[in-house]
Parts: sequence; C-alpha cells; structure tokens
Amino acid sequence: MSNTPKLFTPLKIGPVTAPNRIAVAPMCQYTADDGSMTDWHLQHLMTLGMSGAGLVMIEATGVERRGRITHGCVGLYSDANERAMARVLAAARAVQLPGTLFGIQLQHAGRKASSQRPWESGAALKADQDPWQTVSASAKAFGPNWHTPEALDEAGIARTIEAFVQAAKRSVRLGLDVIELHMTHGYLVHQFFSPISNNRTDNYGGSLENRMRFGIELMQAVYAAVPKTVAVGVRIAASDWVEGGVTVDEAVTFTAKLKEQGAAYACVSSGGLDPAAKITVGPGYQVGFADEIKKKTGITTRAVGMIVSPEQAEEILIKGQADQIALARAFLDNPRWGWHAADALGVDLHRPPQYDRARKALWPGEALKHK
Ligand SMILES: Cc1cc2nc3c(=O)[nH]c(=O)nc-3n(C[C@H](O)[C@H](O)[C@H](O)COP(=O)(O)O)c2cc1C
Repeated sequence: MSNTPKLFTPLKIGPVTAPNRIAVAPMCQYTADDGSMTDWHLQHLMTLGMSGAGLVMIEATGVERRGRITHGCVGLYSDANERAMARVLAAARAVQLPGTLFGIQLQHAGRKASSQRPWESGAALKADQDPWQTVSASAKAFGPNWHTPEALDEAGIARTIEAFVQAAKRSVRLGLDVIELHMTHGYLVHQFFSPISNNRTDNYGGSLENRMRFGIELMQAVYAAVPKTVAVGVRIAASDWVEGGVTVDEAVTFTAKLKEQGAAYACVSSGGLDPAAKITVGPGYQVGFADEIKKKTGITTRAVGMIVSPEQAEEILIKGQADQIALARAFLDNPRWGWHAADALGVDLHRPPQYDRARKALWPGEALKHK
C-alpha cells in the first residue's frame, strides 16, 4: 500500500484525471465587463493555477446575458467573452503546476439574476441600475423586494438549454477539462427542482419526476454536445434547509438520474433557494450529504463547505465520505493552500522553482513567525 496521503493521490473524474483530490471551488469575482474576464481574473486564475489544487473551477459563468447574477458576473455568451477567457486561461496554464485541470461552472441565475454585487448590498438591482427582466420556473420572486421573474414557457426552456449547449461548446474550444452544470444555490436549475420555487402544472412541475426534468434534459443536451474527452458534472442541491423544500432523498434520486445521463461527478452543496432557510453551518456541514449521495448513487463525489485544514480534508477521504474535496474561502485566504497541505501531510509537491526557496526544508520562516 502506498503511504501517500489520499488527498494527494490522483482522481479519475470520468475521462479526465486530476493529479490530486484538492479542488478550488467556483467563486464569483463580480469583476467582469459584460461577461468578459478582466485583469483581475488574470491574477486570480494564475495564482490558483499554481495553488497545488488538482482542479481549479472557474466561477459561475452565465450562459446568457440575463443569466448572470450581477453586471459583474462572467459570461460565455459572446465571442468577446470567449476571447477574454482564452487570454486568461493561456496565462494561467503558462504558470500552472503540472497536471492541474481547469473546469468551468456553467450557470443561469434565473430569478436571482439582476442583482447587485455582494459588496454593494447583494439586493435586486434598482430601477436606475440597469436591471433586467428575470426568468424562472414560475413567476415567483426570490423574496420581498426581488424582481418577479417571468415563467419560462416550453420554447423558453428549449432556448435556455441551447444557451448552455453553446456555452459548453465554447468551453470545449477553450480546452477546459471539466464542465459543471450549476444546479444548486437557488439558481435556475434549482428553481425548477425545488417545490418552493416551482409551482408549474405542466411536465416541468409538480411531481419529483417533473421537477427534475429541466435538469435532466440539460444534462442530456450538454453531454451530447461535447466530446467524450471532457468531464461533464453537476453541482447539486442536497437540501433547501426549509420545511417543504428539497431533501437529501430527492437529491439522491436526481443525482442517480443525472449519472445515468452521463454526469461524471456530483459536487454536493445546499441552500440559497429560500431566504427563510435556517442553515446549520459548521465544519464540514455538508459532508454528510456528500456521503449519502456517494453511497447511494456510486457517483464520484466532491464534498465542500467549511473544510479548512488538510487533516480534515484527508479524514473525509479516508472515511470514504467523498472522493474529492473542494475549498473556497480557504483558497482566498491562502492561495498556496495546496503547498501547505503538502507540507502538513508530508508530501513533496512540486512548486514553481522561482518560489522553491520558501519551502519549509530550505527556510525556517513558518517556525520563526511564531517566535
Ligand atoms: C467569494 C465567493 C464566491 C462564490 N461563488 C460561487 C460560484 O460562483 N458558484 C458556486 O457554486 N458557489 C460559489 N460560492 C460558494 C463556494 O463555492 C463554496 O461552496 C462555499 O463558499 C463553501 O465552501 P468554503 O467553506 O470552503 O468557502 C462562492 C463562495 C465565495 C466565498
């Protein structure tokens, strides 16, 4: 048996293999220009590409203009967007650690679109802030003072799926290894999935089978449109944390169906659908959901949510609760998280030679800091 900590063993995700089991979770930067990545993204993804994570997920990327959360969200709905992302990816790949994979999260914000950046309040855009008409499963606003969306009709559903397909094709042209369909955090696919936001009486609402239909058709369409060398996966909603909302049992059923349609993995998250939700947040608070989904569906599973230390990440993998660990805020705080995890777990991780003299074995800096 190898002594390599599980966190640093390779992971096959459908047709691609990540060099280790650390993923940078997708994180909106709200700093794009009409969907196009800027110099901010250049530094952000160059840094994360050499972070030691085996997979770096690009932030939620709107498949159409109205599918962005804010005016600052990244999109992949125009040639200009594609060119801007190509520039950033070329730079990030030029400095990435060997084998690092890049993935993209494709997204439609539905009724949570047309909002302000979090640091500007996060509320719905006001009349003088260039708001736009939002869409959803039903004409039901996210909460008080939110825009009332238009319910998509069947033609609108088909057009939305086509927008995902086109963005997926752009992602393939960009050479991305992983395409993730965003199905949680209260955005459009989740709005169809949850009985709280979906009051439809047609084939896309009512029973669980009908509420899953939009997500399943989306998975089928994107899977069919991209070469089999690219992993297509999902980020799934395991709970709405509110009475009458999505349950983990429903998430298990949904994930199993998505797997049948070709989903290579599920990243298990929750919440964001209902402002009244009471989420019990704490270390590894969503790991139990990932564990259940992994055990009951057999899909390659990524756990996320308040996973902070390398030891905590390693323990989740050793216990078999997930196959991969994603971290978000820990990477904002310390974009060399992977290097330090390697040090902590006794792994000799390749660092860029330009920075190698800061390695623990060559420099006692960490130890001196606390003297
Ligand atoms: C700044 C920021 C932006 C985020 N943007 C996204 C996003 O684009 N897509 C997504 O699915 N989750 C997003 N999230 C949620 C994270 O991916 C992650 O699931 C969550 O922060 C919990 O993980 P953590 O405890 O490691 O931060 C974001 C979180 C942060 C902090």
